Parts: sequence; C-alpha cells; structure tokens
Amino acid sequence: CGIVGYTGFQDAYDIVINGLRRLEYRGYDSAGIVLEDSDNKFEIEKTKGKVQDLVNISQQLKGKAKMGMGHTRWATHGVPSDRNSHPHLSNNGKVAIIHNGIIENYDTIKKMLTEKGFTFKSETDTEVLVNLIQYFMDLNSQTDFPTAVRYALNEVYGAYAVTIMHEDYPGVLVVGRLGSPLAIGIGDKEYFIASDASPFVEFTKEAIYLEEGHMATISLEGGVDIRTINENSKIEPEIQQLKMNLEQIEKGGYEHFMLKEIFEQPKSVHDTMRGRLLVDEGIIKMAGIWDHVEKFKNANRIIIIACGTSWHAGLIGEYLIEEYARIPVEVEYASEFRYRNPIITDKDVVIAISQSGETADTMAALKLAKEKGAFIYGICNVVDSSIARITDAGSYTHAGPEIGVASTKAFTAQLTILSLIALKLGKHNGNLGNAEFMSLIAELNALPKKIEEVLSTTHELTQSIAKDFVNATNFLYLGRGYNYPAALEGALKLKEISYIHAEGYPAAEMKHGPIALIDENMPIVIIAPKKGHYDKIVSNVQEIKARRGKIIAVVNKGDQQVSEMADYVIEIPETSECFSPIIASVPLQLLAYYIAVYRGANVDQPRNLAKSVTVE
Ligand code: G6P
Repeated sequence: CGIVGYTGFQDAYDIVINGLRRLEYRGYDSAGIVLEDSDNKFEIEKTKGKVQDLVNISQQLKGKAKMGMGHTRWATHGVPSDRNSHPHLSNNGKVAIIHNGIIENYDTIKKMLTEKGFTFKSETDTEVLVNLIQYFMDLNSQTDFPTAVRYALNEVYGAYAVTIMHEDYPGVLVVGRLGSPLAIGIGDKEYFIASDASPFVEFTKEAIYLEEGHMATISLEGGVDIRTINENSKIEPEIQQLKMNLEQIEKGGYEHFMLKEIFEQPKSVHDTMRGRLLVDEGIIKMAGIWDHVEKFKNANRIIIIACGTSWHAGLIGEYLIEEYARIPVEVEYASEFRYRNPIITDKDVVIAISQSGETADTMAALKLAKEKGAFIYGICNVVDSSIARITDAGSYTHAGPEIGVASTKAFTAQLTILSLIALKLGKHNGNLGNAEFMSLIAELNALPKKIEEVLSTTHELTQSIAKDFVNATNFLYLGRGYNYPAALEGALKLKEISYIHAEGYPAAEMKHGPIALIDENMPIVIIAPKKGHYDKIVSNVQEIKARRGKIIAVVNKGDQQVSEMADYVIEIPETSECFSPIIASVPLQLLAYYIAVYRGANVDQPRNLAKSVTVE
C-alpha cells in the first residue's frame, strides 16, 4: 500500500492526490483521502478502484484544507471494496488512520474491543488499530493523542507504517513504523509523509526515513518529534539529502513506465557499472565487497535469498559466482528459507537481492540469517531502503527508480552487479586468470552498447510477433545454462502483465513433462545464443519442431541451424555466455510488453500485483 500525508500551506488535496498517483505502483485496488477542513472537521472520500476513481468522486474537496492524508491499497484483510478502503475512522469519528502492512493479532484486540462495546464496519485489521487508539483516550482523559497512539502501537504486532489524525488535534499528524517504510519530507513551513520520497521530490530534498520501532508527531508548531514506540525515548532525527529528481519518476514521453524502463537499460546497466568497472586499469572497484573480501573468500557457501524477478537474478548469480569465484552458492525463495529452519553458521554469507529493499519475506529471511551469525549482504535498488539498512554491507544497483510493476531495468542491473561481484571475487581468489578477467570486463563494458543495438533492432520485430500471439493461452520459455533463469524470467514477465499462462523450463527438462503440452497451438520461446550448449539446444528445437510447436527463437546474429527451424527469429548481438541473459532478456521484455498492450491490459499496474510487497 502507499501512504501520503501533508500539513502546511498548500492545498492538501492536490498534494495528497498527486502523491497517491506516484505511489500507485504499491497497490491500486482502492484509494481514499481524509482532509481536515477549516472548521477542523474531517472530510473523507474513499472507493474501490484506482486513484482516478477517487478523483472522480472527490473533486469537491479541492482547495478545502491545508492538512490531510491519503492511501492507495493492496488488499490483505478484506476484499477490495469501498468499506474496506482506507482511511478508517474510530467509533467516535475523531481518529482517522491509514495503514500499510498487517496487524497479526488483530483478532484478539478486536474481541477485547467488541466486549467494550466497539463496533466495526469493515473486515480490516486497520479498523481495530484506530479503535484501540480511541479506547486508550477514552480510558483516561489525561492521555493525549500521540500517547494513545504509542500505547496502541505497543499492543499490536505485525508490520505497519501508519499515519493518524485526530479531529481535536488540528494540524497534527502522528506516524509510526515497524516493517513498512515511511519517509518524512521537511519543507519550509510544511511537512510531507509518504511511503517513499517520490510524492514530495519537487517540494523538498530533505527527508527523514523513520526507523523501525519509531514514531513521530509532526506539526507546524512542534516540528518533527521522534520517539521510540516502546520506551518513548526522544530520538534526534537524521536528515538525508534526496538524490531523486522529478524527471526520473515521470514517463518522459513513453506510453508506459515499463516501456520507458526497458529503453533505459543501456543507461541503467552503464550506471550500475559506473565508477566500479575501470576497464583501462583492469580493476573492479566495489567497496562493499573489498572491505569484506576475506569473509567471501573464506565462506563455506553463499546463500542468495530473494523473491520474484530478483530470485531469477539470484539463480544467474549462482552460475556466475560458482563459475568464476568457485564458491558454492545456493539460491532460495526468501519465503521458503525462513520457515524451514535452515542451517546457517557464521561461516555463511547471505546475499539478499531486492529491487525495493522492502519485500517483507526477504527482510525477514535476512533477519533470521543475521541472528544465526551469517554475514549479510544486500543488493538493492532503492537507496536507504530497509534491507539496505539492516545489511552488514552491500552494493546498490543504481538503476534509478523503477515504477512499472513488472521489473525490467532492475533485473538487468542486478545481473550486472552479480557479474561484477563474481569477477571481482574470482580475480581475488586466483580462480580467474588475468587474460580471461580482462576479456570478460571488456565484454561487460560493451553491454550498454549492445543493449542499445538490441533495442533498436528488435523493437518493431517484437511488436509484429506480439500481434500473432495476442490470443495465445499458453507459452513455454526454454533456455539452458545461464539462459535457463532468463527463460523463467521471460515467462514471468508475460504472465504478470498479459495474464497468459507461461512456464519457463530448462530446455533439456522439456522432455520430462512439458513436451506433452506441445502441439501446433503452443508458442515456445527458446533462447539459443551460440555460446552455451548450442548443439544441445538444436536437438531440443528439433524435438519441438517434430511436434509442430510454434518456435520463437532468440539467437545470435547470423545463426543458421536454429533459425532455419524457427517460425520467428529474434537476433541479438553476441557476448560471453555469462552475460547473455542481460541481452536476451531485452527482446523478451518487449515481447511481453507488446502482447499485453495488444490485449488491452494495464501494463504498469497489472491486476492483483504490487511492486513492493511489504506483507508476508
Ligand atoms: C513483487 C514484484 C516483483 C518483484 C518481487 C520482489 O512481486 O511485483 O516485480 O520481483 O516483488 O521484489 P523486490 O523489490 O524484493 O525485488
């Protein structure tokens, strides 16, 4: 979910609504707003649907208030509906709350409050929290609003970022955080609150990222007063300078963020390597790795944990690190890792890969690894995100803000970082000779140009292929070696945004099951660059051909054998096998994008998904 709050001198309605539009990638099944009008009364509108649906019913609130807050939701407790949308009000109508996260013990608290006479209008866990705040204020007239919030937060467990207003406390916003992110923007006579800094970048470059277990009372008179939730100890705020700018978070002429982000990849891959890859000197500079290089060198093994697309990047990381650094690597879904009592020791290095740096499962898995004594390393895209902050060390991908829900440029940036890490460790370990190292880094350095080339040569081609498959109901994606995870990622892209069922498989495994699915209606995308088991892939393609499957082949320029059998040929420039997923992924992203566009799907906000999943 996304949260925005404002108190200051501007029209709160505009700030909240524009902020919600920018946070809509975090969830978009319902939206709501509450403002404090000039008589210090709440004005609320909320609805199932998108921020635009909220705008359609809330125009009358424009210009009415200088303080307010809004929410865009990704449903956890309770279906998306007007009733379950945030903000929620307490029974006496005086306390309003917006919440991102889950309150796990809501049931117990709900029972207690019901016994005290409280009633509930929604199925949400959030409504329980807002009534608990009222309960503490009713209990003792000496308990002021921020104190009641603190009492209530001490009673709940789970994950939350909350923003709360009280009708009797005009101009005051109380926020709290445990597990879900919250940033406070400090302007001149105005304050902003948001799940990330994007809603306020054009107004201020100064922000405080609220820490875990902290809350803040914010008002024009009192400034920002930060306390620990458990002990009420005062905390000195640490003000950060934002590097994000407005241009980065706007569409810049593209129809969708996803397309913009696909086209940004020559730059984002370059930015990931900038200052790190010094080709002429023959050096890879990465302080995060170098400062702890002995930890890596002496590690029993490296465990990579991640979810979704980042997990696919992790699989390719395994191939890279094992091949070049010769350190054993395991890759796990964060959600599985944390609940299976994994064996971890202080000789293990755990790498978490996360675009957002906020994914709840990844965060929890990392905490577990840390508790067990492992050295924990983060590969995140969002600077200062929760994962970036709890890790012992890390490397940012520097791909810039990724807004499209389906990850594209963050994926190729993750692969770039993993390549740098593998090569750096390999060189240091003595497993990678100088000549090979030099030739690999020259290849890495050439990637941005090759991505540019593949974008220009495959953009129209993927559109025309997409037109032929608009009505497909299934897709298979196959690859071997480094391109097996690239096949998984290709399939994930398609299903995320087009809702066509797609499966990725190691090409050779096809004969152990998926081959049964192949007939003349089954499109099969096969990634078959020259380097990397090409001959074996040729046999796999023959097996498909014999069953009349429709073959879309991603091959190197000038390819013959596979191309002759394929129905559609997408040519990509050659590179080392280990980097080929970075190039091969680009036309697969375009193919998925155009199939989804032609099917009329909402590419940037696919149904049921959210970009940053801050619940388990
Ligand atoms: C969600 C997103 C995916 C993403 C995954 C992991 O499911 O929709 O695109 O790959 O979370 O996110 P992270 O931010 O941890 O990389």
